[in-house]
Amino acid sequence: MAEPFDVVIIGGGPGGYNCAIRAGQLGLKTVCVEMAETLGGTCLNVGCIPSKALLHASEAFAAAKNDFPAMGIKTGKLDVDLDQMMAQKAETVKGLTQGVAFLLKKNKVTHIQGKGQITGPGKVTVTDADGKTQTLDTKHIVIATGSQPSTLPGIEIDEERIVTNTGALSLKAIPKKLVLIGAGVIGLEMGQVWSRLGADVTVIEYLDRILPGTDNEVAREARKIFKQQGLTFKLSTKVTGVEKLKTKLKVTTEPAKGGAAETLDADIVIVAIGRQPYTEGLGLESVGGKTDRRGVIETTNHFTVAPGVWAIGDCIEGPMLAHKAEDDGAAVAELIAGKAGHVDYNLVPGVVYTNPEIASVGQTEEQLKDAGINYKKGKFPFMANSRARTNHETLGFVKILTEEGTDRILGAHMIGAGVGEMIGEICVAMEFGASSEDIARTCHAHPTKSEAIRQAAMGVEGWTMQM
Ligand code: FAD
Ligand code: NAI
Repeated sequence: MAEPFDVVIIGGGPGGYNCAIRAGQLGLKTVCVEMAETLGGTCLNVGCIPSKALLHASEAFAAAKNDFPAMGIKTGKLDVDLDQMMAQKAETVKGLTQGVAFLLKKNKVTHIQGKGQITGPGKVTVTDADGKTQTLDTKHIVIATGSQPSTLPGIEIDEERIVTNTGALSLKAIPKKLVLIGAGVIGLEMGQVWSRLGADVTVIEYLDRILPGTDNEVAREARKIFKQQGLTFKLSTKVTGVEKLKTKLKVTTEPAKGGAAETLDADIVIVAIGRQPYTEGLGLESVGGKTDRRGVIETTNHFTVAPGVWAIGDCIEGPMLAHKAEDDGAAVAELIAGKAGHVDYNLVPGVVYTNPEIASVGQTEEQLKDAGINYKKGKFPFMANSRARTNHETLGFVKILTEEGTDRILGAHMIGAGVGEMIGEICVAMEFGASSEDIARTCHAHPTKSEAIRQAAMGVEGWTMQM
């Protein structure tokens, strides 16, 4: 009988492929089983990467249309070539998914294409597209099967006119009227893409606010800005049905608390009401694994499902983000190799890649209030930052929250152009247990937008200098 593998990883998304790479680096005999044709999971194929490709291209279009004239740049008549925009997106996706295949090979990881099913302790049966099966013997199994879009009862997704993120990233034409269900991260990112390209976008949200979970002051500012940019929000509203007519869709809504129904027309409806773990046909029960009522795989110490069975990424607790899945993957590979592996979920940053961007890490003001923690706050607007003024990117602010008494940074929340790149400074500071004074006394280059972070940090003790 052949030697068993050290690790069989089920799923080749950011969780799975990073776990595989790290396991390979640590000398473990590793297999990564992926049922899709390409590696990279949701993130590379129908998530982070294609959405950012469309956000970047549509932002460039909007800048050329709205911002170039004031900077003295003349263009001819602008137009959108949607096929080319989609082609450049596809090219990026292809390059990156091929890059993952290369990295697996480089780290001596065996990539098997097929659907993996756990058939007992140390056993994974893989079924390929032709129905051929093989059973792998392994010391460890890592479940990295990710997530899928949640759906609404009575609304039938066809990925043509009523779509999830998958269809929303590949529309064949710019819709005249687009309705988005859910004012979360996908709703706002996709809403901006299609609005910039010319669609009339309405976002319907069940709650009375957008971006639940985000610091409320930031979310309120975001809503104000996105409204000015042309998005229409219908908050505290539920969608009760979408009727497919030959030439249009009829969306029926009601106030969330009940009341008179309304209808609105749409060419396309995007359903973006959250995601749920994907565990279909996984065979979790064969090793005594369980899911909770939301479908999340239950784990102890973050990652352990059963002896020799681990789970990581979107299918377990914690934020459903690619970098969190990545960190889970590396930590589990290290634990399997007998090293220390740990991920601090409080220090996982979140970024919404709209314009302006929204970035946060640590606790929000609402969370601190709920926990009864006394905190101090420093805030600095980009309007007073010289680089932002020079670039005409004055919307938004940086806010830093610290513990009263110790000055330790507990959270940072920003909205502004490029803040997705700036949040890393706070992540590093928080990892090292920094105080606001540590940042306030650190020299930052001038003129940069990161000076706004320094000024906000100064603001915690009331010595902001540039406002
Ligand atoms: P996935 O990426 O979902 O990968 C799981 C893989 O497992 C899939 O390839 C699937 O085919 C495979 N699989 C499942 N079951 C089996 C099986 N039984 N056998 C074999 N293979 C199997 N996150 C960010 O951090 N930044 C972003 O900008 C961002 N943008 C996003 C935009 C959109 C539109 C969406 C939908 C998501 C976005 N995310 C973003 C979230 C991010 O995509 C996920 O958090 C991340 O992909 C999770 O990684 P994962 O490895 O846990 O799961
Ligand atoms: P989400 O959880 O961010 O937002 C879903 C929104 O839908 C919420 O505001 C929720 O209140 C609302 N909602 C739920 N049920 C509803 C209903 N019946 N009617 C109306 N509104 C309803 O989920 P989303 O946008 O689908 O994205 C899924 C996940 O993918 C995100 O949570 C995030 O983890 C990840 N993602 C991350 C991105 C990033 O990091 N930039 C980009 C896109 C997705």
